Amino acid sequence: MESDILEKKTKLPFEVLIDQEKIHKRVAEMAEEITREYSDKLPVFVGVLKGCLIFMADLIRQCNFPLEIEFISASSYRKGTGSNDFLVLGGASTTELKDRHVIIVEGIIDSGRTAEAILSHLKLMEPASLELVTLLDKPGSHRNRLDIKQIGFSIGNEFVIGYGLDNTQKFRNLPYIGRVLDEK
Ligand code: IMP
Ligand code: MG
Repeated sequence: MESDILEKKTKLPFEVLIDQEKIHKRVAEMAEEITREYSDKLPVFVGVLKGCLIFMADLIRQCNFPLEIEFISASSYRKGTGSNDFLVLGGASTTELKDRHVIIVEGIIDSGRTAEAILSHLKLMEPASLELVTLLDKPGSHRNRLDIKQIGFSIGNEFVIGYGLDNTQKFRNLPYIGRVLDEK
């Protein structure tokens, strides 16, 4: 009985949306473009936890030039039953970003709220340049117009897991991107 309940709680029907080979190829292209622009600028890659984890690790290992890394975290909370959720930024940034070339690295952009908040927060630190790079984007969900420097893959309004992205904190360790199937 108990194991049945556990199975229902952790099992999530999904299918492969983007396989490892495709991800690897695209991340290599993104790194190439970043290399062309930043190889002599000693950029700071600021990863947005936790979704950036695998993407950022793969991306920076394909950038063969001097760079630094930093992290920021963003959690959204919902107050009561209202749709007015709020966002809290965290992460003790020890890197001085003033006059630095900053690249924000996101796993996925949905409504764009998280990216907007991080962009305006980091702008206050007066970086020399500030750009946003994401592995996945859901353009159909954006709340406002968003300037994204590089997008790995544009997807529809579907829920995806794996390669750093979670469903209730699990599935981040899937080596590919999966699409969650509607439970019927
Ligand atoms: P936002 O709506 O652009 O602010 O995205 C908020 C956050 O929701 C993202 O940073 C992800 O952590 C999460 N998120 C949005 N869509 C997905 C998804 O399809 N899979 C996993 N996490 C997602
Ligand atoms: Mg999440």
